Parts: sequence; structure tokens; C-alpha cells
Amino acid sequence: MSVNVGDLDAIGIDARRRIASAPDEAALEQLRVELLGKKGGLTAALRGLGRLPADQRAAAGARANSLKAEIEGLLATRAQQLQETRIGTLADREWVDVTFVPNPIRRGHLHPLTLILREVKAIFSRIGYDVALGPQVEDEFHNFEALNIPQDHPARDTMDSFYLEDGKLLLRTHTSPVQIRYMQSHTPPIRIIAPGAVYRRDATDPSHGSQFYQFEGLVVDHDIRLSDLKGTIEYFARSLFGSDRRIRISGDHFPFTEPSIGASVSCGLCDGAGCRSCKAGWLEILGAGMVHPQVLRNGGIDPQHFSGFAFGAGLDRLAMLKYNVNDLRMFLDKDVSFLRQF
Ligand code: DAH
Repeated sequence: MSVNVGDLDAIGIDARRRIASAPDEAALEQLRVELLGKKGGLTAALRGLGRLPADQRAAAGARANSLKAEIEGLLATRAQQLQETRIGTLADREWVDVTFVPNPIRRGHLHPLTLILREVKAIFSRIGYDVALGPQVEDEFHNFEALNIPQDHPARDTMDSFYLEDGKLLLRTHTSPVQIRYMQSHTPPIRIIAPGAVYRRDATDPSHGSQFYQFEGLVVDHDIRLSDLKGTIEYFARSLFGSDRRIRISGDHFPFTEPSIGASVSCGLCDGAGCRSCKAGWLEILGAGMVHPQVLRNGGIDPQHFSGFAFGAGLDRLAMLKYNVNDLRMFLDKDVSFLRQF
């Protein structure tokens, strides 16, 4: 191929137009290879110079070289332009305001009922108790009969219990059935707490919800006495509420314990004198008693050889007392501004 001035003019016109309209740096780079690379028209023209007659060679060579220099210059200028445009839009699109102060990261934390439950478990595990669990759907035997709650007892009233459709199974109304299940499957010595959800159809008011949480305690061994129960309650209440608290034991009645007692703790604000927060000076924390001999028998344990005590407390209630919350339903609402306080 030989070169004539017309070819170089055409190459120049084409190159100027395409360089000016290259849309971005990648396209420009492609264009550079095309224009100046081995297969480009200009390279072919330069290669063809050797075949020109000697008198034309110098002039054509000078033209081709100056065109090559011009194209290189245009490419460099356009590359610079495209880079500036890219960086300019990048700065618009991805700017970072280093003076911006973000909201502090909010960490999640444990629910107050979980906190109380963990504390209760820790308190009892320090004196050798295991944690036992039972089903939330119970049968009447474990929930009632085995606990000396006969057919006509008011607690059996369907107003208080959620029965399943078959009319035989129900949502457990307390954690006491775990006592029976545990005695049936273990031999003394027994030392357990059994925490979990329980269900009642009580109308909801500030201190009652249809679902709440209890934990049961059960100790069965040789020679367990009421004084052991009292000492245990004292240890528990002081661990949870503070060593300055006093414990008051009063008589009570539960079908599954004999005798039955109720335990109250002195109010932390007035120490039993009575104040606006506690009214009577004492706050009831749990029901308890010596396990009824018939209940031991129902659990497969011989009351001639073993005795035991049991207790049951509302976890929600303990949390209310410990954290000074006056509406039990708040624990189950998902109000974050409430929950975040613990
Ligand atoms: N089960 C009782 C209730 O739900 C609480 C209770 C009282 C449990 C006395 C006990 C106990 O183990 O001895 O009201």
C-alpha cells in the first residue's frame, strides 16, 4: 500500500471527530488502540512510506509523523477531560460529610422477665437446684388431680382455664404439674425449680394477664422440714431484693401442700411500716408449703420415708416488685421505650 496525502487527511478528520466524541475513558482507550495500533490506518500509512518514490518520501513522512503527534496530543487531552468529568461526578455521587454525627448505635438487651429468670436460676443453682421443664399443654391429671385439686374445685372451673378442643387437655394454669412429672421420673433427693409460661382466663387488669410466668420449686429428701422451707425463702428473697429485707410468713391454703404458707418481703422503701408504694408494708412474693403426702404418693414417692417442700412464685410479679413496675401487662407489650429502661 502506498500513501497519499488524501489518505492522511481522511485519517486525521476521522480521528479528530471520534476522539472528540469518545464518551468515556474505556471507549477512548479502545479508540487509541484502533488509531495508533498495529492494525490502524496510520501505522499502515507509515509502513507504506518505504515504497514511495524518494522525492515524495520525506514530505509524506513528515505529514504522517505530525498527524501521529497530533492524534496522540488529542487523545491525551480528551483523556484528561474524561477523567476530570468522572472524578467530578464521583465526588457528587459519593460525597461523605465527615462532620456528620450519627445517632449512637443502640444495643439490644435482655427483656426484664429474662433478666429476672436468669437471676432466679443463678440464686437457686448456687444452692444446688436443677432446672426442670414441663409441657405447657397439660392433662387434667397432672394439672389438677395429682395436685389434690378435685373435679369440683373452683380452680377447675372452665372460666379459669383454657381447654383445648378435645375438652381434656388444657394450657397449664400453673407450673405445679412439673412437680408431679419430676417426681414420677426421678428419685429423691430432688431439688429443682421449674420456670415457664402459664395461662388463665382471668380478665386482664393491671396485675393479671391471660399469660404470665411462674416458677415452681420442689425439694424432696429425708427429713425436710418447714424450717428448711423458711430458710430457703429467706435466702431467696434476700438474694433477689437485698440483704436488708425481712421476710414474713403467713398461713395460706393450697390443696397440694400441708401446711401451706404465703411469704412476703418487707417493702424496700418503708421497711414494713406501710407507704404509698406498698400500702401494707409487705409484698407477697410466693405461695409455698410442705408437699401433701398424697401428692408425694401421686408422684410415686413414699411419704413414710420422704418429705418435701414446694413453692410457686409469679415471675412477672417479682419483676414488678424488683423494678417498681406497676402494670404487669407492660412486660408483654412490645413498647421499646419501656423495655429499654432495664
Ligand atoms: N400453683 C400455685 C398457683 O399457681 C402456686 C403455688 C403455691 C405453688 C404453693 C406451690 C405451692 O408449689 O406450694 O397459685
